[in-house]
Order: sequence, then C-alpha cells, then structure tokens
Amino acid sequence: MLGRSSKRIDLPSMPATLARIIQVTNSPDAAAEDVANIVMLDQSLSTKVLRLANSAYFCRVNKAETVTDAVVTLGFASVRNLAASASVVNTLFPREMFPGFGWQEMWVHSVTCAVAAEALCRQMSGSSNQESAFAAGLLHDIGKLVLARTLPSRFRQVVEAVRDYNFSMVQAEKNLLSTDHAKIGGDLAEQWSFPESLRAGIAYHHMPEDAIDHEDIARAVSAGNLLAKRMSKHYVFGVAIEVSLKDVADAAGLPCAGMDRIVDEVRNRMQQCGEILAWSNSMPGAQAMAA
Ligand SMILES: [Fe+2]
Ligand SMILES: [Fe+2]
Repeated sequence: MLGRSSKRIDLPSMPATLARIIQVTNSPDAAAEDVANIVMLDQSLSTKVLRLANSAYFCRVNKAETVTDAVVTLGFASVRNLAASASVVNTLFPREMFPGFGWQEMWVHSVTCAVAAEALCRQMSGSSNQESAFAAGLLHDIGKLVLARTLPSRFRQVVEAVRDYNFSMVQAEKNLLSTDHAKIGGDLAEQWSFPESLRAGIAYHHMPEDAIDHEDIARAVSAGNLLAKRMSKHYVFGVAIEVSLKDVADAAGLPCAGMDRIVDEVRNRMQQCGEILAWSNSMPGAQAMAA
C-alpha cells in the first residue's frame, strides 16, 4: 500500500490552446470566427475539426471548406469537446508500451463507449445531453493515461494484477495506489476546466449513483462502458469479461427489450467514427494492430 491519493499525483498541465478554447466557447459573446481563430493556431486541431465536420458522423450536405464553416457545423460545444479530446490524445497518450496492455485497443474501447453512451443517453433522457455523453464516454478512462505517465512502474503492476489475478482495473488500482483512474480522471477534468457534465461523467463512470449533478451522464457512460466491454476486445490482453445485455440495461435503467436495437445502432455509428478512430494511428502499438 502506498497510501497515495490523486492529490499527490502530478497532474499534467492543460495545453494553452485548450485553455483558450474553453474560455472563448464559454463566453456568451463569442462568434464562430473567434473560436476558429484559436483553432487555426493549432495545425493538428484544425485538421481534426475540418475532417470531423466533413465526416459521415455529421452528414453535412455542403462541404465545410474553412475552419469557421466547420465550427458553425459542429457548434461550440462540439468544438470544445473535440479540442478537449484531441488535447488528451496529443499530450497524454504515452509513447511507451506496457506489456500486455494495448493503447489502440483502449482507444477503440473509448470510442465504442462514447457511441454507446450517446445512444443510451438518447433513450434515457430524450435528446438534451447526448453531446456531453459522447465526449464523457470518449474521455472516461483518461485517468489511466495519467497513471501510465506519472507512475509507470505502478501502472505496470496494475496491469499485471488485472491479467494474473483477474482483478478489475479499479480493484487493482485501489490495492496498489489507494485511488483509481475514475478519481484521477475527474481531478484532471477539474484542473483542465472541462465542463461539469464531462467531469461528472469521467469521475463517476464506475459509481454513477454517487454523482451529485449530471447523474444521467454518469449513468450513460457507466452503461456505455459495460456495452463497450461486451462489444470490443479487452485492452488488457488475455482478459475476457462477460457482460450481459441485462447488465447494460440495468446500469442504464432501461428495459432489456430495447438493447438489441441499441447494439445495432452502436455498430452502425462506429462505421461513421473512422475519423476519431484514426487518431490512434500514432499511438504505441499502431503498427502491430494494423498488421
Ligand atoms: Fe474505467
Ligand atoms: Fe472503460
């Protein structure tokens, strides 16, 4: 036992571009050009915003030719969530491999969770929070990235405990670090000034009943996480997790009868997520997965 809490883990500082985008998108007077001007300072973010606005995911009729067009298509909330996700990928994904752990597989899991959380949220609460549910799903496991970067030898032990003793990631982290990736991710979201709905979705994705606000987002991400575990390969190699559709339905508070349709919807929607899945091309292990 180390007796560490995430307060004693050095959280990485927020990239400057993201800080400015969060500030401007929160301002009631901001115009699309103001947001576009900041996005354009970052070449890789500009490309992501333009490509995503023109991707199948947004089904746009006219091509977005400029970053300003793209910001209008996507909306401020989407651009802010996209900038947050892109910053996480660019600045937090480790450049090293951990034996038995797949970063690419974790990204596929995260995108599946995002799509599932969005679909479940739509069923749970009408249409209002799907955007936040998607972003929170994409980022729900960021605490694992922080751990891998800041305490790599401990993270290696966590992965070994999951693989060798069939612990869940949270159990292994609590045993070895006295904290877990949901708490660490929530602390990072707070430090990086993510919107409260995103922070709650990340911090409570394993215990949505503890969320004080945005419990619907936390529940959608929690159930989406289970559905992603059912639908995609585990990122700790050799570990198989049995999740039933009833488990997913119970976590979401939805009837089991509609779950097959949600699985179909998630599968179809994943086909449109090529742009976001492609962000993993520069992650460690990309060549191995492509081969
Ligand atoms: Fe998790
Ligand atoms: Fe997860």
